[in-house]
Amino acid sequence: MSSQRTILVTSALPYANGPIHIGHLVEYIQTDIWVRFQKQRGHTCYYVCADDTHGTPIMLKAQQEGIAPDALIERVHKEHQADFADFGIVFDQYHSTHSDENRAYSTLIYQRLRDAGHIESRTITQAYDPVKAMFLPDRFIKGECPRCGAKEQYGDSCEACGATYAPTDLKNAVSVVSGEKPIEKESLHYFFKLPDFTGMLAEWTQAGHLQPEVANKMTEWLEGGLQAWDISRDAPYFGFEIPDAPGKYFYVWLDAPIGYMASFKALCDRIDIDFDRYWVADSNAELYHFIGKDIIYFHALFWPAILTGAGFRTPSAIYAHGFLTVNGEKMSKSRGTFIKARTYLEHLNPQYLRYYFAAKLGDGIEDIDLNFEDFTQRVNSDLVGKVVNIASRCSGFIKKRFDNVLSDCCDQPELWQRFIDAQESIAELYENREFGKAMREIMALADLANQYIDERKPWVIAKQEGAEQELHDVCSMGLNLFRLIVAYLRPVLPELAGEAERFLQIGPQPWPVDAQPLLNHRIEAFKPLMTRVEPDKIEAMIAASKEHLEPAKNQAASEIEPIADTIEFADFAKIDLRIARIVKTQAVEGADKLLQLTVDLGGDTRTIFAGIKSAYAPESLEGRLTVVVANLKPRKMRFGVSEGMVLAAGPGGRDIWLLSPDEGAQPGMRVK
Ligand code: MSP
Ligand code: ZN
Repeated sequence: MSSQRTILVTSALPYANGPIHIGHLVEYIQTDIWVRFQKQRGHTCYYVCADDTHGTPIMLKAQQEGIAPDALIERVHKEHQADFADFGIVFDQYHSTHSDENRAYSTLIYQRLRDAGHIESRTITQAYDPVKAMFLPDRFIKGECPRCGAKEQYGDSCEACGATYAPTDLKNAVSVVSGEKPIEKESLHYFFKLPDFTGMLAEWTQAGHLQPEVANKMTEWLEGGLQAWDISRDAPYFGFEIPDAPGKYFYVWLDAPIGYMASFKALCDRIDIDFDRYWVADSNAELYHFIGKDIIYFHALFWPAILTGAGFRTPSAIYAHGFLTVNGEKMSKSRGTFIKARTYLEHLNPQYLRYYFAAKLGDGIEDIDLNFEDFTQRVNSDLVGKVVNIASRCSGFIKKRFDNVLSDCCDQPELWQRFIDAQESIAELYENREFGKAMREIMALADLANQYIDERKPWVIAKQEGAEQELHDVCSMGLNLFRLIVAYLRPVLPELAGEAERFLQIGPQPWPVDAQPLLNHRIEAFKPLMTRVEPDKIEAMIAASKEHLEPAKNQAASEIEPIADTIEFADFAKIDLRIARIVKTQAVEGADKLLQLTVDLGGDTRTIFAGIKSAYAPESLEGRLTVVVANLKPRKMRFGVSEGMVLAAGPGGRDIWLLSPDEGAQPGMRVK
C-alpha cells in the first residue's frame, strides 16, 4: 500500500434556509464514501463541513418566520446534522459559517488581500426597495421579460426564453419582498481584483487540479476575460461586517469557502491538530473539495485566487459531480420527486440510497438519474440477492451442524487469493471516484462466491453420510468470501458492514491487504442483514413528498358549485363502488387532460379514461389503490371505450385528489 497520506476533505456547505434533500445527498454520500475509504486504508483523513448561514435569503426567511436569523440557523443546524447522521454521513467536524473561527479567518483574509492591493472600491447603482429600505439581489425582483414579455420572471434571466439581462431591464418590475416598484440607488462597494490573478489561474486551472471537462470550461471563462468580483453588500444583511467599512458586509460567497478553514480550525482546537500544517502555502497535506457542478466558478476561480492572494495553499483538487434527476426529470414538488432526506428516512433504509448512488457515480460531471424501478431492482438483486444471500446460504449449516464454529481448513486457497488480489483494482477505482465500476467488480466477486456455493451444493452434501468435513469446509469458505466482500463494501455500507462484523465476531475490517481466512473461529447466529425494497414504501414516500399548490382556502361560498337536486336512496344504492388497483397508466396521445388507466378489480381488468393528467405523472399512479364506479355503462370516447369511472375530488389543475383507500384494502372489495 502507498505510504501514509495526510488528507483534508470538504463537501460544499449546504444553505441554512432549507432542508437537506436527496439531490444534496449525492454529494455528501459521494464524499463520505471516499473519506471512509481513505480512513479504512489507514490514512489520516479529516472530513469537515458546515452550514452556510449568511445572505439575504436566510435573513428574509427568518423574518417570514418571525424569528431572529440566529434562531433559524440554529434550528436548521440541528436538522441538517440529524439528517446526515441518519444517512451514515460522518463528519469529523460539522460547523457553521456564523462562527468566531469564520469571522476571524474572513477578516484575516480580507485584510491580507487589502494590504496586498487586491481590493478596490467604487460606487455602483443597484435596484433598491424603498419600502423595505434594502438593496435587492436579482432573484428578489420580478417582472416581464424584456425579450419575450413572459410575466413573473426573475431579475437575472427569463425561464421562458432563456434571455439574460440586468434587473433594470425588466418591464413592470416589482420587489418580491414588498411588491413595490424598485428604484435605483447608488452605493459604495468593495471588489476583489480577480484579474490580478489571471496568470496564476491560467496555469493553476490546467495543472491537473480539475477534471478535464472542468478545465476546458475554465479556459473558456479565462478567454472571456475576468472581472473584479463584488464582495460587499449593504445593510441590512445577515453576515459579517467588513472591519474597515461600517454598514458594509461580506457577501455570503466570500465567507462561505472560508468556512472550510473555519470548520477545520474548530476541529484542530478540539482534537489538537496543527492547522498550519494543512494550510500554509507550501503544505504537503492534501486538500480536496467535493462540489456540485453549479458552483465550479466559485471554487475553481475565486477560491484559488483568494487563497493565493492571502498567502495560503490552494486545493490539491476540486471534484465536481453532476445533478440528480429523478425518473429522468428534474426533482419536482408537484410530482413528489423533491424528496427531503427526512421523508426518505421515514420510508426507506438509507443504505439502499448509499448503494444506489455508489452504483451510479463516476468521476465525471454528468447528471445522475434515480429511477425507482432500477433502484428497487438493483438493491434487491445485488445486495439482498447476491451479497447477503451468501451468508444466509452458509450460516444455517454452520449453526445447526457445527455449533457456529468455522472449519479449520480453507477449502479453496486459490479462490481466496483471487478475492484478495481483487483489492488493488477495487482500491484504484475508489481512489479515482469510479464507484460505479468498483461496485460492479465487487458484485462480480459476489457472483463468484454464489457460483462456488451452487457448484458445491451444501444442501446436497448435508444429506450425504460421512461428508461432515466437506459440508463444514464449503460453508466456512462461503462465509470467508462473504467477509471479504463486506470489507470491500464497507465505505458504501458501513452499517451492513458493522452488522456483518458482529455476526462474524471480528472487529471493524481494515482494507484487506493481508487478510487471512477465519479458521476454527466462532461466529454468532445469523440474522437477516438487509430486507428487500418494498415498492409500496417508495409510493408512500412519493405521496408524502407531493406538494399541491395551495388549495383555494378562502374560496368564497359563491364559487363552489351549487349542490345538485336530491336523489332517492334507491338510485344511490344502484352505484356499485369497488376498490381497484391501478396496474398501468399511459398518457393518451392527442388529449391533454386524459390518462388511460388499466385497473384491476380483483381479477376483472378494465380500461378507464380519467381527466387527471394535470395532477399526476402516469408512473406515479401505478400500483396505487383507488375507488371506481364499477357498474357504469361502458362509454365510447374519442380515444377508446371507458369501462368505469375513478373517483376523485378537487378544483382541477394540480389539485385533483384520487380516493386512496388504505393499503389493506383488496382490489374487487365492495365499498359501502
Ligand atoms: N451554500 C452553497 C455552497 C457553498 S460552499 C462554500 C450551496 N449550497 S446548496 O445547499 O445549494 O448546495 C450544496 C451542495 O449540494 C452543492 O455542491 C450543490 O451542487 C449540491 N446540490 C444541490 N442540489 C443538488 C442536486 N439536485 N443534485 C446534486 N447535487 C446538488 O450551493
Ligand atoms: Zn423571455
